[in-house]
Amino acid sequence: MAVTTVNVCKKDDIEEGKTKIVEVNGREILLAKDQGEVFALGAYCSHDGGRMDADEVYDGQVECPRHGAMFDIRTGEATMMPAVYGIDSFDVEIKDGDVYIFVDME
Ligand code: FES
Repeated sequence: MAVTTVNVCKKDDIEEGKTKIVEVNGREILLAKDQGEVFALGAYCSHDGGRMDADEVYDGQVECPRHGAMFDIRTGEATMMPAVYGIDSFDVEIKDGDVYIFVDME
């Protein structure tokens, strides 16, 4: 597995308490900013493939707009039904105000 670090945006491009979807190598990734920290998750829900463009972070979680499942932004773990499986989460590094994520490019 070839894990690569990719610069996806500026940290300031993501508003506090909000999410932003970026594309990396044809794959959409959800960025979420909470209390100044940035987290990266798969952009599609594990329940029925809903696009996770909910926009807001609630208590360290994001909500799928389709049926209301919630996921922990730190781990991708499902925290509310109807999702029972988590979604991908990616390591994030902030360097000189830029957001880098660690992704498998294969
Ligand atoms: S597709 Fe996300 S909760 Fe159903």
